[in-house]
Amino acid sequence: MTEPMAGTVDGVPGGPSPAELRELVAAAGAAPSLHNTQPWRFRPTADGPGVLVFADPARAVPLADPDGRAMLLSVGAALFNLRVAAARLGLPVEELDLVPGPDGPDEPVAVVRFGPRGAPHEPGELAELAGAIGQRHSSREPFGNRDVPEAVIGELIEAAADEDAVLDVLEESGARRVLALTAEAEARIAADAARRAETGGWLRAEPAGRAPASGAAAGPAAGPADGIPEWALGPQDHEARVPVRDFAGRGPVHTRRFEALPQVATLATRGDTAADWLRAGQALERVWLVATTRGLRVSVLHQAVELPDTRWRLRDPDSGVGTVQVVLRVGYGPPGAATPRRSVDDLLRDPARGR
Ligand SMILES: Cc1cc2nc3c(=O)[nH]c(=O)nc-3n(C[C@H](O)[C@H](O)[C@H](O)COP(=O)(O)O)c2cc1C
Repeated sequence: MTEPMAGTVDGVPGGPSPAELRELVAAAGAAPSLHNTQPWRFRPTADGPGVLVFADPARAVPLADPDGRAMLLSVGAALFNLRVAAARLGLPVEELDLVPGPDGPDEPVAVVRFGPRGAPHEPGELAELAGAIGQRHSSREPFGNRDVPEAVIGELIEAAADEDAVLDVLEESGARRVLALTAEAEARIAADAARRAETGGWLRAEPAGRAPASGAAAGPAAGPADGIPEWALGPQDHEARVPVRDFAGRGPVHTRRFEALPQVATLATRGDTAADWLRAGQALERVWLVATTRGLRVSVLHQAVELPDTRWRLRDPDSGVGTVQVVLRVGYGPPGAATPRRSVDDLLRDPARGR
């Protein structure tokens, strides 16, 4: 196959076609990321069929994420979506390298190599998750009080284990402990003016990607391609049980009653290296997509992971395997709103050739 690749990318015989490459990258770009920074970019491999996955330090959030841990976690989530899209296209992932410590932004953080089409796919029926990629959103609204069935909890735990991570779905006392730590971290972050300004910098007041108001010029609605639009934010908890991040820094001006006992889970990895952060991101997205296929909603409570002391205290004092990478709230409720995404062209642009 010698078709030329679209835009600034070069083709590789046997690799994904230009349209397929765009499909892979669009799926990857739909992943969740800290403050919707979307800190990733992609390029086809030059030496065989595959995709190079890069982190984009220009999209770092240095106060919330000084080590770039959440950035790599976000990239890991994008990488998982790319694997799902590849499975759907019948492109088997033959090799997946997580680069232990990339040397600067020009080094990929992961390399995905595809085997011959028709070769057996990755186990785990990844292709079946493809439909959930576009349905998955953060849902910051109150959930109902219906319990998640044990069988579904088992599937979520298995999804994390398949990516070499540990999902701990907490009993009441554990959930209360983790929510209290999250509330403590939220209060400390909210009291820090620099942190407030950093978070506020990723908040988008203007509607993005929406149809122009009547009377406005026709054409694609212009708007920011990243950050969190106000419409994706939820209320604060009237009872202060669920410490939803106060992105807008307004305090409890818009409150509602949340679920009485939130179902909370921690996602941990055995180590805490750059490769573990990429693993955690893949596990996060796998859990989230499986949850989506089961009608569950998910939101991330990341505040306690952002402060070293609260992060340490998140570990279960009894079993405490590994290091907690993210805290999730799961339940049944509204689906959450779609948020903007960077274009596929932007994600495939090679900064070395001019951005
Ligand atoms: C590492 C990480 C940390 C996040 N932290 C939070 C958080 O503390 N509170 C929250 O409401 N959402 C959090 N999110 C969710 C992002 O804000 C969300 O993924 C992004 O805005 C895109 O929206 P979407 O998930 O609906 O696609 C986090 C996501 C990631 C990957």
